Amino acid sequence: MASGLLAPGLLAFALSACVDKADLPRPVAQGDAAEGLAIIREVGCAACHKIPGVAWPEGRSGGGLAGFGAKPLIAGRLPNQSDVLVQWLIDAPSLDPGTAMPPMPLTRDQARDVAAYLYTLDED
Ligand code: HEC
Repeated sequence: MASGLLAPGLLAFALSACVDKADLPRPVAQGDAAEGLAIIREVGCAACHKIPGVAWPEGRSGGGLAGFGAKPLIAGRLPNQSDVLVQWLIDAPSLDPGTAMPPMPLTRDQARDVAAYLYTLDED
């Protein structure tokens, strides 16, 4: 679907994302980080990720999310920008069909809240 339109632009973006300060993540305007943490607990992101603020479980398959807010790229290959992250959280395979991160049952508003929380995780 949208991936056909998005992918070339994202690829160019990812390739040019060699840490220009202007591309660093910034807080998600409409997101509520506290609500995001509650949603993260509810939908079970921690089954696959170790996430600061979530005591249990500490899943390993998706890697830890500590420090994610300070990373220039999502999964090492997509620009870490709020709109891309929101799409990643809802339907990661739409951005990268090969990814092992499954689509998650989030509305766009919920994904914005989750993204806002992830952007508070800027320390390892
Ligand atoms: C079934 C396991 C699974 C679940 C559930 C899951 N993820 Fe993931 N996630 C992964 C995997 C695997 C990757 C690595 C993807 C890749 O590299 O292609 C990933 C990657 C990510 C990344 C990129 C991390 C980085 O260091 O760049 C973020 C952010 C993320 N997930 C957030 C979430 C959030 C938030 C939730 C809950 C809404 C969630 N994930 C649910 C498996 C999962």
